[in-house]
Amino acid sequence: MTLPTATESKDVILEVCNLSKYYPVNQSFFSGKKALLHAVDNVSFQVNRGEVLGLVGESGCGKTTTGRLIVRLATPTSGRILIENTDVADIKGQGMMEFRQKVQMIFQDPYESLDPRMTIFDIVAEPLNVNGIGTFEEREAQVEEMLNLVGLAPPSAFLFRFPHELSGGQRQRVAIARALVVRPSFVVADEPTSMLDVSIRTGIMKLMAQLREDLGISYLYITHDLAVARYLCDRIAVMYLGQIVELGDSEDIVKKPVHPYTKALISAVPVPDPAIERPIPNIKGGVSKPIDPKPRCRFYDRCPESESSCAEAKNPELRDIGGGHLVACHLL
Ligand SMILES: Nc1ncnc2c1ncn2[C@@H]1O[C@H](COP(=O)(O)OP(=O)(O)OP(=O)(O)O)[C@@H](O)[C@H]1O
Ligand SMILES: [Mg+2]
Repeated sequence: MTLPTATESKDVILEVCNLSKYYPVNQSFFSGKKALLHAVDNVSFQVNRGEVLGLVGESGCGKTTTGRLIVRLATPTSGRILIENTDVADIKGQGMMEFRQKVQMIFQDPYESLDPRMTIFDIVAEPLNVNGIGTFEEREAQVEEMLNLVGLAPPSAFLFRFPHELSGGQRQRVAIARALVVRPSFVVADEPTSMLDVSIRTGIMKLMAQLREDLGISYLYITHDLAVARYLCDRIAVMYLGQIVELGDSEDIVKKPVHPYTKALISAVPVPDPAIERPIPNIKGGVSKPIDPKPRCRFYDRCPESESSCAEAKNPELRDIGGGHLVACHLL
């Protein structure tokens, strides 16, 4: 398959090529028949330096798995991941230390991701210690600077507290400070607001936007919420059952969605601009698991626009319909 973006003149920081992750599953407990769950299935995209790319889709579509593959918390079944033109599969030894500084992940759950026995200072300083960065005084200064940047000020009020003494929003700020203290150039943010109270989500979203301005970080921002993606991301990739079905500029995706699945997602979220009227697409059935999927379009069974020819045709590839807007659908 050809790579799906026309960004040759841009500085590409992350390139994902035909990435797949299959998990063996027991399809039937009684027969013991082995099958493969296609969590991520032949996914390709690029992120440019300084850009935020949103990865959006329903629960179980493969967002977290994609993020975990990029930061090397999971190993691909096939495909390649290049960070600043280096294939992450080739990174070993000292290179791994550098990779761990360059690429960080922020997790969904600020309750699980922080060690309850460590102080905030120790938590945020740990990546500096592990990587042997700076003297003690320099680390102290960096931790304080980071706490200020994430809005935990004055730092002296937080340094020697423990995670359980903090609110969910404050904990997520600590987790963000810890991820960013080594000044990574690329961050995978996996739904950092979804476990938080609605009232504090906006604060964390604004922080993510601010940090991008202040530190010039490029993100893959994972969310199931298109309104969040529109607010934070330059471009949005829409995933369905392990595959990207549409990718384009955020405004195009939200205002001019083309894939029947994206249209269905848009109709499910309140569109901030009431001037835009949208017909409510009729989306039948629930999300299934991509276990040994048929070689046709993954959305066929639920698609309100499908035609009989779609049942026979092979799985559609992403095609550029103009201006870098990519869609995988036979009906175009
Ligand atoms: N370690 C694993 N072993 C087996 N199956 C897995 C594993 N991790 C993920 N899966 C399956 O892979 C698919 C994709 O999961 P993933 O967590 O990436 O989805 P997601 O888009 O992040 O969902 P959510 O919005 O709920 O976080 C799901 O069907 C999930 O059950
Ligand atoms: Mg997830």
